[in-house]
Amino acid sequence: MDSAAARLEVTTAGGSYFIQIGAGLLAQAGEAIRAAVPRAASRVMVVSQPSIQSLYQERLHQSLHAAGFQPFWHSLPEGEAAKSFAHYNALMEALLAERPDRHTTLVALGGGVVGDMTGFAAATLLRGVPFVQIPTTLLAQVDSSVGGKTGINSAQGKNLVGAFYQPRLVLADTQTLQSLPMRERKAGYAEVLKYALLGDAGFFDWLEAHGPDVLDAKPEALRHAILTSCQMKAAIVSRDEKETGERALLNLGHSFGHALEAAFGYDGRLLHGEAVAIGMIYAARFSHRRGLVGAEVPARIQAHLERLGLPVAPPPLPEGVTPEWLARAMLGDKKNSNGKLTLILLEALGKAVITPGVDYQEVVACWQQP
Ligand SMILES: NC(=O)c1ccc[n+]([C@@H]2O[C@H](COP(=O)([O-])OP(=O)(O)OC[C@H]3O[C@@H](n4cnc5c(N)ncnc54)[C@H](O)[C@@H]3O)[C@@H](O)[C@H]2O)c1
Ligand SMILES: [Zn+2]
Repeated sequence: MDSAAARLEVTTAGGSYFIQIGAGLLAQAGEAIRAAVPRAASRVMVVSQPSIQSLYQERLHQSLHAAGFQPFWHSLPEGEAAKSFAHYNALMEALLAERPDRHTTLVALGGGVVGDMTGFAAATLLRGVPFVQIPTTLLAQVDSSVGGKTGINSAQGKNLVGAFYQPRLVLADTQTLQSLPMRERKAGYAEVLKYALLGDAGFFDWLEAHGPDVLDAKPEALRHAILTSCQMKAAIVSRDEKETGERALLNLGHSFGHALEAAFGYDGRLLHGEAVAIGMIYAARFSHRRGLVGAEVPARIQAHLERLGLPVAPPPLPEGVTPEWLARAMLGDKKNSNGKLTLILLEALGKAVITPGVDYQEVVACWQQP
C-alpha cells in the first residue's frame, strides 16, 4: 500500500471492511481486492461508464490482471439516467451470461451513479455477491460509497428501489479526482462541509484554512478531508445502519436542497451538491430564526462557500416556483409526514439536531425572507 494512504475500518451489523484513501491506489487494486475478498473467483466484473473507462480502465485492468484476475467489463450509459430499471436489467443479463458464482466479485469504478447501481446489482445477483467500491468523484469518496445504501431510480422518484448492502472494500484513489471537473469537485465539497457543520467544529476551522487545497486536489488535503468525512459518516452509520434515528443528521441542508433540485427539475442547472450548499445556508438561517444560533453562524458558512466559489443562493427560480411551492416540496419529501416537517437544524457550528414538528408556515416564511 502507498505509504501515504490512510485506512479506516468500518464496522457494520454484517461484518467489517476497510476504506483505503490515498494517491495511486488504483494501481494496487488487484492486490487489495485479493486481500479483502480472499475467496474471490478469478472472474471479477467491473462496472463503469465510458468516460471513466477512457481514463482509468487500463490502469485498473492491469492491476487486476497482475493479481491473477480476469476482468469482465460492463459499461453503463453516462449520467444519472444509467440508474434505471432498463439498465439494471441489461446489466444483470450481461452478468448472468458470464455464469457468475457466489464468489464472483463486482467492482464499481465511478461516481455515485455507478456505485449505487453496481451495489444494487451485487446485492441481488445470486442473492448477493462480494462488492468493491472504487469511487472516482469527491461525492462518492466521502458519501455514496460509505454506508451501504444502494439502488436505482423509478419514474416515481429517485432511489426508491434498492437495498442496504455493504461493500467488502472501498478504495478511494485521490489521484482520480484530478480529472474530475471543478464544478463536480465543488459539489462534492458541499458534502465534506456538511460533516464539519453537523458534528466537528474543528474540522470547519481546518476547512476554512485548507478548503482551497481540497478543491485544487492536493493529495494531503484531500486525504485528510476524505478521511475525516468517512470517519464521521461511518461512525453515524454504524450506530444507525437503517436510518431509524441519528443517521438523519446526514440530511443537513438536504430538505431545503431537495426542494431546489425539484424546482429545477434535475436538469443540470443545479447539481445535488450545489443545492446542498445553498440548503445548508438556509438550514443555518432557519436555526438562527429559531434562536438556536447567532447570526454569525449562517454568515460564516456563507462566507466560506462564497470564498470557494460555491453557489450561496439559487439561480432565478422557474415560473410558478413560490415559497409555498418550495415548502410543499419539502413536505412531500418521503421522510416527512402529517403536515409537519422534520428538519436538521444547527445548535452550534459543529452540532446538528433532528427537529421534528416544524410548521409548514414557518418554512414558507424562511423561503420568503431567508
Ligand atoms: N448511496 C448513497 O448513500 C448515496 C449518497 C449520495 C448520493 N448518491 C447517489 O450518487 C449519485 C451522484 O453521484 P456523483 O455526484 O458521484 O455523480 P456521477 O456518478 O454522475 O458523477 C458525476 C460526473 O463525473 C464524471 N466522473 C466521475 N469520475 C470522474 C473522474 N475521476 N474524472 C472525470 N470525470 C469523472 C461522471 O462521468 C459524471 O459525469 C446520485 O445518483 C445519488 O443518488 C448515493
Ligand atoms: Zn447529499
